[in-house]
Amino acid sequence: MIRALVLVIAAAGTAGATGPAPSDFTLNTNCPPGFEKTDGGVCELRTLYQFYDSLGNRGLGGTRTGLPPHRDGFTPQQIDLGRYLFFDPVLSGDGTLSCASCHDPAKGLSDGRSRSIGMHGEDAGRAAPTLWNVAFLKRFFWDARADSLEAQASGPLYSPREMGNTPAQLLARLNGNGVYRRLFQQAFPNARGPIAEQQVFTALAAFQTSLVSLNSRYDRYVHGHDAALNQREIEGLNVFRSFVARCSECHTPPLFTNEQIAVIGMPEPDGHPFDVGAEAILGSPKLKGGFKVPTLRNIARTAPYSHSGAFDDLRSVVEFYNKGRGNSAPSDVPLYLHWHISDPDLSEAEVDRIVDFLGALTDETFLPQPPTRVPSGMTATHRGEST
Ligand code: HEC
Ligand code: HEC
Repeated sequence: MIRALVLVIAAAGTAGATGPAPSDFTLNTNCPPGFEKTDGGVCELRTLYQFYDSLGNRGLGGTRTGLPPHRDGFTPQQIDLGRYLFFDPVLSGDGTLSCASCHDPAKGLSDGRSRSIGMHGEDAGRAAPTLWNVAFLKRFFWDARADSLEAQASGPLYSPREMGNTPAQLLARLNGNGVYRRLFQQAFPNARGPIAEQQVFTALAAFQTSLVSLNSRYDRYVHGHDAALNQREIEGLNVFRSFVARCSECHTPPLFTNEQIAVIGMPEPDGHPFDVGAEAILGSPKLKGGFKVPTLRNIARTAPYSHSGAFDDLRSVVEFYNKGRGNSAPSDVPLYLHWHISDPDLSEAEVDRIVDFLGALTDETFLPQPPTRVPSGMTATHRGEST
């Protein structure tokens, strides 16, 4: 956390102080930490989980289970170009918001808000999910409405409630910038002609797939360092995996999500309308109020919690699960609650131990370095008012 803050302060301190000298910008030719460069010049992820069996071969909640397939194989240059784009407010309609405004490295790649705020101050409707480990996801957004990172990107870019840009303006701005034209040429050496939208999406996806968090104290414990977790956290892990609490049925290790959509009946904050979630996308009334199971990686860093930020802290979330099936569901909306949502009747101490355990899922070793300056010359800081 301290490291993250220092990085942001460093970025804020230097950004925009002088105009960018075009020759200053170069793209990294090395892969980010955790990745190995192949003979073909692309970056491949290396993790100890690759030595374990596939998820399908082991019981749910087992610790030494493999990871689902992931995206990698981008070049270092594409990843680094994506990093510049991610932090550059030139991507928004009025130059005030970058992706990092809402997915801020100093805030667990989220924004610390119950619901995000768009370019014109609009409530974006839902909370910004963390971007840690998106390389492993197959569906994106709380309601699973996008099926790739590339498809996801047009959501925030062109939504008037978020970055408020248009494809034509985005491409005109990037193509009008000599630095970006040069950097895109380096990242996509075989391409001819002006910068294309798909290249922007590819670079953003490349950068996001480098946001990997699999080195928490929990992971070290899994890989055989028994002392990595203390007694309370081990107790918490055991409650979390138990068939009483059932957390790992949905928040399945090692990603701590099974990527399914589940109806669990979390409340909306006071005064906020009921959100039908995945029902609107998949057209099934059984999915009314259904949301994608979020990862719990770095969860201690991303309060407030739930799709609408209804819970301020982790203990309140765990208490929600312990208050009984449907305890916060609206009385006038029929919900098909998931069968793993039960009435576990955990003791206060067990609730505390789960919270202790969730704290052991923090790992920000591969936190990206925010660029001190971005090619547009705009200020690469994050939204100041909420820090
Ligand atoms: C105004 C704040 C805001 C900005 C700016 C923003 N996002 Fe998001 N992001 C959100 C919110 C809110 C959601 C969830 C929306 C939903 O599920 O309906 C989200 C969801 C996502 C997801 C899906 C994650 C998951 O687990 O399903 C990805 C990936 C993502 N954003 C990447 C980006 C990228 C890349 C950019 C820049 C092009 C960006 N975001 C800009 C607020 C923002
Ligand atoms: C039936 C599947 C299911 C089970 C079982 C389950 N969860 Fe969840 N969990 C979800 C879904 C879906 C969400 C998002 C719901 C929403 O935002 O409305 C969620 C959200 C959360 C969040 C907030 C995450 C965030 O980023 O805001 C935490 C923390 C959490 N669950 C912890 C737990 C714990 C601890 C247990 C066991 C006591 C548990 N969950 C059991 C499906 C499940």
